[in-house]
Amino acid sequence: MKINYNDLIPNNVGLSDDRRLLRALERWQPAYLNWWNELGPIDTETFQVYLRTAISVESNGWANYGHVHMPDYRWGIFLSPPEPNRKIGFGYHKGEEAWSEVPGEYRTELRRLIVTQGDTEPASVEQQRHLGKTCPSLYDLRNLFQVNVEEGRHLWAMVYLLHAHFGRDGREEADEMLDRHAGDPDKPRILEAFNETTDDWLSFFMFTYFQDRDGKFQLAALSESGFDPLSRTCRFMLTEEAHHMFVGETGIMRIIQRTCELMQKHDSDDVRPFGGIDLLTIQKWINFHYSICLDLFGSEKSTNAANYYSMGLKGRYQEAKINDDHILTNSQTLVPKVEDNKISTEESALLTAINYKLREDYAKDSQRGISRFNKIIRNYAINTELKLPDAAFNRNIGVFKDINCSPDGTILSQSEWQEHRHEWLPSEDDYAFVRSLMVPVIEPGKMASWIAPPKRGIHGLDIDYEYVMFH
Ligand SMILES: [Fe+2]
Ligand SMILES: [Fe+2]
Repeated sequence: MKINYNDLIPNNVGLSDDRRLLRALERWQPAYLNWWNELGPIDTETFQVYLRTAISVESNGWANYGHVHMPDYRWGIFLSPPEPNRKIGFGYHKGEEAWSEVPGEYRTELRRLIVTQGDTEPASVEQQRHLGKTCPSLYDLRNLFQVNVEEGRHLWAMVYLLHAHFGRDGREEADEMLDRHAGDPDKPRILEAFNETTDDWLSFFMFTYFQDRDGKFQLAALSESGFDPLSRTCRFMLTEEAHHMFVGETGIMRIIQRTCELMQKHDSDDVRPFGGIDLLTIQKWINFHYSICLDLFGSEKSTNAANYYSMGLKGRYQEAKINDDHILTNSQTLVPKVEDNKISTEESALLTAINYKLREDYAKDSQRGISRFNKIIRNYAINTELKLPDAAFNRNIGVFKDINCSPDGTILSQSEWQEHRHEWLPSEDDYAFVRSLMVPVIEPGKMASWIAPPKRGIHGLDIDYEYVMFH
């Protein structure tokens, strides 16, 4: 389908042919812009940012680069092209034609899945609102805004589904997306990791490494959905999500590289006096972000997850590549359990362990980057390894929520935990130190003291390109 570039809302969903839907979205748009101005990146009205804008889903259209006046960014609605004769790949309806409309009997569940996903998108923008003030370079500032505008677009993607397929209650849910706010005591965001603050750049890079990776796995599971518009929406969002994780992974790598340079130069593990972030501090940030992200996958055993699967609404990661019956009513698996203060495993129906399986896939994917981080450290002949903490560490949801564990998975008493927790999790002093490093660097090509320059610039441009113009 051809896109009308002049549309207020660039799209490939035929908006101009659906007056009712177009009007609903045009009504929602001012509320969205209001929200962006009030809770999106602070004081950016005059900025021109070198951004990627999606104007179509074709390979030459979804990544259009140029300086954009931030408030004029055009948030569009894009679905990946339909797969002809797509069939539902799992659950009771396996083998049936994928649904182009919401099946009435699954309406509530489907809406809940879309709202839960949608809610995380504006939440992350709110969480990152103040970061632009302390950017370590123009390159990084541009990347922050790129992530922000795309999370805004992801909200549009979910709001489109609500408006187009859920009638009045969909419209109400779309309004609520702008009413809940990250960290608001009265109307918080739905998932806890999206109520935390992200007010330093180490946290931002960890966020885009860990939280955005959770996004990848949730979107991948939803892209298997029998509800075809959701599947196609998520498939397109995944292409953008890859960049967010790139920002996180390369950001952490650049910090580690700088830390290692300073360690070598000063022959000391403590690089704080030299304006670097020591490896122990980086490890604490990993421990924090990874553990709160594991909570995002929910309880290891979940009848909701089993129902979503059987109904054909949310699949597993890369469902089609898994070699089993995709119905799972007769399959068993092992899940962790805690009994008498000991961690072991027990048999469970695979169907109820869907969350756990997705979390395991996430853990594997998270480990890949950690291995790359350690390679940098080894290259400097430094004898330290970064690690993902054990799944039992610092958990608030699931089987581990009532125990205290060290990062290596040893169960601790309450007093042991209190005594040691700040060896593993950021303390107020750690936060204060990291925040003390957060001074803005806005001269093109210059980097803050605690981070190495990137290997290359954006879209073939030099590192010292003026990625953000302030007027
Ligand atoms: Fe997103
Ligand atoms: Fe993202």
